[in-house]
Amino acid sequence: MRIYCYHDYQELSRHAANLLSAQIIMKPDSVIGLATGSTPIGIYDRLGELCRNGDLDCSKLHSVNLDEYIGLQPEHPQSYRYFMKTQLFDHINIPTENTNVPNGLETNLEAECARYDDLIDLLGGIDLQLLGMGNNGHVGFNEPGDSFTLGTHVEELSESTRLANARFFEDSSEQVPTHAFTMGIKNIMAARSVLIVVNGSKKAEMVKKAFFGPVTPLVPASILQLHPNVTLMGDQDAMKLLMEAGVKVEGSAVEV
Ligand code: F6R
Repeated sequence: MRIYCYHDYQELSRHAANLLSAQIIMKPDSVIGLATGSTPIGIYDRLGELCRNGDLDCSKLHSVNLDEYIGLQPEHPQSYRYFMKTQLFDHINIPTENTNVPNGLETNLEAECARYDDLIDLLGGIDLQLLGMGNNGHVGFNEPGDSFTLGTHVEELSESTRLANARFFEDSSEQVPTHAFTMGIKNIMAARSVLIVVNGSKKAEMVKKAFFGPVTPLVPASILQLHPNVTLMGDQDAMKLLMEAGVKVEGSAVEV
């Protein structure tokens, strides 16, 4: 695993965007796995800027998003389809038909999961999967205790995840959907490379646990220790316990 630590969120976002754009420059028809949440917003801003400046061409790119709430219209401001459209797809030149998010309105849940797994296979698999990490160590919506062997599946969201996401729903966890489609750990581990990005001191404990603790379904992100091509990028608040423990990090010169 390559570990990079940056001074702040802006610097982290720029470097993570550089890595994504390097992937797209080297392989313009890459399949990129994308995440929502607050962490990637700075990365998406930067990718938009690179495209606007003519430094990045996404016209051959395909994207597959990790997850989507069940029951929200694509136009709902809290749906992940809407998030991706407004935060990224409207700002880069990726053809809309090349963008994929699970269909949160599909009522045949099993069929939608199978369709999504087949779609990833048809695209030839994921070249680079971008991940954030939840405060409880979840990746996608794979919550603590889930089997590592699942592909795309329906997840009942944990109370802590619904509470954490309530900030986007006028602060009422009541309004957060109870279920979501999510790629499983099997899909994530099959990606040829993974970039996981973390920021803020709230994530510091979990960063240490996930990447330097035991590999266990109780900490879903810990499985990434077994992936052959993972890059972890964080700001110094999220990485502070690693640095205090003497883990060698690369990136900008951050003083401990
Ligand atoms: C969203 C997703 C989630 C988030 C995680 C961290 O598509 O996959 O696993 O990455 O909840 O969220 P933030 O970035 O808001 O801390």
